[in-house]
Amino acid sequence: MSGKITFTMIKPDAVADGHIGAILGKIAEAGFKIKALKLTQLTVADAQKFYEVHAGRPFYGELVDFMSSGPIVAAVLENENAVESFRTLIGATNPADAAEGTIRKMFARSIGENAVHGSDSDENALIEAQFHFSGREIF
Ligand code: CMP
Repeated sequence: MSGKITFTMIKPDAVADGHIGAILGKIAEAGFKIKALKLTQLTVADAQKFYEVHAGRPFYGELVDFMSSGPIVAAVLENENAVESFRTLIGATNPADAAEGTIRKMFARSIGENAVHGSDSDENALIEAQFHFSGREIF
């Protein structure tokens, strides 16, 4: 059975563009419960570690620079089938390919600056939640 938890970040582009409230509103409207939430900023070392699975990819340096370039909102979300239903809500990685009404279609600038992160598996959701939050910050 699929898990009830996913992890998200509102990325530096969407924070800088003033979309925190609108994105959290879409997440709440879609029925996700917020289990943890904070405004924070990744160091370069944090971003390298968080995205180490992409370390060999040509866009890795750009990704690390971008993700550490400004504040983000990190959150743990709960819903039925959370990972998959959240990925449907945010849309395709490239906003040009994202369905109408998805968060990336509405708010992302480009494939690199794509407004939000969503975990890709139950296992990674847990790892990513624990990367950003201590046990006493998750409710
Ligand atoms: P996300 O799926 O949240 O995590 C990995 C990120 O790498 C992805 O979002 C994009 O922001 C970024 N990414 C993926 N493909 C490219 C690409 N071709 N060019 C730049 N960034 C990319």
